[in-house]
Amino acid sequence: MRGYHAGVPYPQTRLRRLRRTPVLRDLVRETRLDASALVHPMFVEDGLDRRGGRDPILAMPGVDRLSISEAVAEAGEAAGLGLPGVLLFGIPGEKDEEGSGAWDDEGVIQLATRAIKDAHPDLLVIADLCLCEYTSHGHCGLLRADGSVDNDASVELLARTAVSQARAGADVIAPSDMMDGRVGAIRAALDDEGLSDTPIMAYSAKFASAFYGPFREAAGSTPAFGDRRGYQMDPANVDEALREVRLDVEEGADVVMVKPALPYLDVIRRVKDATGMPVAAYNVSGEYAMVKAAAAAGHVDERAVVLETLTSIRRAGADIVITYHAKDAARWLRT
Ligand code: PBG
Repeated sequence: MRGYHAGVPYPQTRLRRLRRTPVLRDLVRETRLDASALVHPMFVEDGLDRRGGRDPILAMPGVDRLSISEAVAEAGEAAGLGLPGVLLFGIPGEKDEEGSGAWDDEGVIQLATRAIKDAHPDLLVIADLCLCEYTSHGHCGLLRADGSVDNDASVELLARTAVSQARAGADVIAPSDMMDGRVGAIRAALDDEGLSDTPIMAYSAKFASAFYGPFREAAGSTPAFGDRRGYQMDPANVDEALREVRLDVEEGADVVMVKPALPYLDVIRRVKDATGMPVAAYNVSGEYAMVKAAAAAGHVDERAVVLETLTSIRRAGADIVITYHAKDAARWLRT
């Protein structure tokens, strides 16, 4: 058996010997958590400068919608804490049927990306790529007359958006829409524009989860009708998650993602073992909101719960953890 040494049992073998002091425990710790693995998500809203620059998200204490200048300041804070990057979500001033704000070269995410890269060139800007924050109906793509999402027409718009984001200076493109074939189309579009060095972090196994509730409040992206089960994955499926991941890898994904994180630790482990790819896990808005609510009620110790949670996501096989706790965790890990 790999990694197993047949030992002489108790009393000679005493596993508590290596748990006796902090320095011994540190010496044999199998999973390390540090700020360099954590990505800080931010919501940037068009026009918020005129309304004070920050707008709190009720279900997510400590997370605000930000104006572009506040986003630049917060990105600076993230960089100062040793976080490698930020993940940007844009909230446009106006939404329409197609989600045209997504590929507008002067759109909110493009402007925010330029401003953040100008001020903090070493910080990675990862652009979330989806149409749901930009469409009036809140779905992640173009609608057909019957209300279903038209896969191939949506993929074209996503590829166009990716090019616009990368031209604005995004270091990584992160498609979160779950349309079939989008990774290959985005890769081809980027390569055609001479952007072959821009990596794709694909939300490969993204489940149709109730844990996205607070995010949809934050981005105003709750579907006006129906739900996302026609494109996001059934929470019961793990073999299918591997198929999604393999296809994305074949289409050119550089990093694959599993989302949400905590209810899907088994999926993270299987993806890591099966592919050996860099794996990201998204500790989503609902996971954050639950910890915040329990901590505010005095039921759990927030710092301890957050560090244990993030460690468990890393232990499951995630190299990168996207989490709204990133700034706090980076602070706690310093002390
Ligand atoms: C956009 C997108 C969503 C999240 C990330 N990208 C929402 C959704 O699919 O409804 C969720 C993030 C979170 O809950 O923190 N498609």
